[in-house]
Amino acid sequence: MISLGIESTAWNFSVGVVSEDEVIALEGDAYIPREGGIHPREAAQHHSEVAGKVLARIFEKVNPGEIDAVSFSQGPGMGPCLRIGATVARTLALKLDKPLIGVNHCLAHVEIGRWLTGAEDPVTLYVSGGNSQVIARRGGRYRVFGETLDIGIGNAIDKFARYISLPHPGGPEVERLAERGERYIEMPYVVKGMDFSFSGIVTHAMKLCDEGYRIEDIAFSFQETAFAMLVEVTERAMAYLGKEECLLVGGVGANSRLQEMLGLMCTDRNAEFFAPPKRYMGDNGAMIAYTGLLMMKHGIRTELSESYVKPDFRIEEVEIPW
Ligand code: ATP
Ligand code: FE2
Repeated sequence: MISLGIESTAWNFSVGVVSEDEVIALEGDAYIPREGGIHPREAAQHHSEVAGKVLARIFEKVNPGEIDAVSFSQGPGMGPCLRIGATVARTLALKLDKPLIGVNHCLAHVEIGRWLTGAEDPVTLYVSGGNSQVIARRGGRYRVFGETLDIGIGNAIDKFARYISLPHPGGPEVERLAERGERYIEMPYVVKGMDFSFSGIVTHAMKLCDEGYRIEDIAFSFQETAFAMLVEVTERAMAYLGKEECLLVGGVGANSRLQEMLGLMCTDRNAEFFAPPKRYMGDNGAMIAYTGLLMMKHGIRTELSESYVKPDFRIEEVEIPW
């Protein structure tokens, strides 16, 4: 069985093709904002401009006749961006006369992580620009055990990066700065129950910049504090649920320090830590294709009349028969 998947929730228009055993093709085109953060309509405009050529690159590698299903990111994400992916997917499904499958984007991050690492029943820390959640399976669904009360950790880092005039996305740049940090400066550590919040750290980091603190030390302290909050909640979920695997997914998962901190926590608990290759951490079409394939194998498909986008789609809404 071969599945094609389209990802277009935010910054990336990406198309992947997978079989049950491997990623066959993955092509994409990233939208980079001229200034500031991601502008939904501009990103959607970008996606509609590049969709044709991204698909053409895919069809240089894969014969359209081989495709058994067309999957797309149905949400959560930015409405205008989601609609481009959904429209391309509907058109392709009709043209190829194959089933259409609407995929939850967060579920796709988790499932490609499990597929590529072999983690079976992990507590997943899903950290990206827009989302930060601690997720685990219970009773036929994935549940969110803890999440951000305000912005995603990626957006928090990007916001700080913009303030110090670093290019978008700021994550990799801030990581490089943090590696040269020498001194920890106290930051607001906000964990409430199983939830966390990052906007206080951003405001505090900006204030420290204005006060002339060394930028590398601020970046270092930002990461140490925010990541410690995430690791604390992930560990608590593992203890509470009695799970012995931890999986890291989402764009921020590419951060080596976050990987190291989670790895240490897992070693302490005698648990196993998993992280997929960086290429599959951030948004990509292969994760949508793979999750679509799982859904199709279990008889799930999306009628055209049900294929509207869901900007607030939550992972708990999806029943998991596998
Ligand atoms: P979602 O819709 O799931 O919220 P997203 O649109 O934010 O996804 P992702 O590709 O999952 O997209 O994540 C992008 C985020 O990852 C950006 O905020 C970026 O700064 C961050 N990021 C990328 N690399 C790193 C890194 N090395 N360290 C920290 N953050 C990183
Ligand atoms: Fe994502």
